[in-house]
Amino acid sequence: MTDPFGRTIDYMRLSVTDKCNLNCFYCKTGPVKHLSHEEILRIEDFTKVAEAFIGLGGKKFRITGGEPLIRKGVCALIENLVSLGATVGMTTNGVLLKRFASELKCAGLNGLNVSLDTTDGQVYRSIGGGDVSEVIDGIILASDLGFSLKINAVLMKGINDDVFPLAEFAKQAGAELRFIELMPFSPTEKLISDKFVSAAEVAERHGLSRTERAGNVTFYEGRGYRVGFITPLSEKFCASCNRLRLTCTGKLLPCLHSDVSFDVRPYLSDYEGLKQILIRAAGAKQPCHQLEKGVRQNEEMGSIGG
Ligand code: 5AD
Repeated sequence: MTDPFGRTIDYMRLSVTDKCNLNCFYCKTGPVKHLSHEEILRIEDFTKVAEAFIGLGGKKFRITGGEPLIRKGVCALIENLVSLGATVGMTTNGVLLKRFASELKCAGLNGLNVSLDTTDGQVYRSIGGGDVSEVIDGIILASDLGFSLKINAVLMKGINDDVFPLAEFAKQAGAELRFIELMPFSPTEKLISDKFVSAAEVAERHGLSRTERAGNVTFYEGRGYRVGFITPLSEKFCASCNRLRLTCTGKLLPCLHSDVSFDVRPYLSDYEGLKQILIRAAGAKQPCHQLEKGVRQNEEMGSIGG
């Protein structure tokens, strides 16, 4: 399926829950409002939407949250998607990774992106709570199990903008490290406005030189490290956007940074209807986000899953 700007849309991110076992200040303002059972898509529902998306040329899925490992049935969903011929990745905060890594491997999960902003236990706790050693152990286990591993760190001025400690850990774990520029969302905007720092500024301060750009990621190298930066603000990559997002309440989002959405719920028993709503969502994609003009997503990042 292509969108009105000729981009191929073959990637979907599935947010399987909006609940999370961490409370990162840049991601959500507090505990999420309780949703009843009926409001949340079932594993079969996600599978049905995925099947329709695959019917339109969809190839790749990423399971996100909230924190996807707290959703019951997440391994069954991965198995379903894999058996439909799709490639499946997951973005997790890694807190429960030790417990689930083997099961995820058996389910056929391809790659794991683990969100880890720092290896410093105290700093980690101050960002979102939780015990960093759990995450570190989980990453090492996942690496031993042969997962293709990426570490995502949200880049924050004065908090984790000394990139070398995380670069050293990523190197030891055999993971690719990517720092993501801090993005504004309406609910959390005030809390983060003084913490933005651009990738180029941090790279220059560390004496890193830009090597190549691959997809969404710009790589820099220096002191024996290779560090990726994802730059939604300083260097947009919307031109290569290939994705739709589905929230756990059944909203299809054409763009992370816009409030436009389409409800899949009326079509869950209607394969052709699902295809039509997916085509409408792809048709509503804009050429680019407009963060620089103050256009914001009103939902919290935490419930969309990045
Ligand atoms: N800006 C940039 N990245 C964010 N993430 C969560 N909130 C933000 C934000 N405001 C990251 C998470 C995770 C990925 C899905 O997005 O830490 O790594």
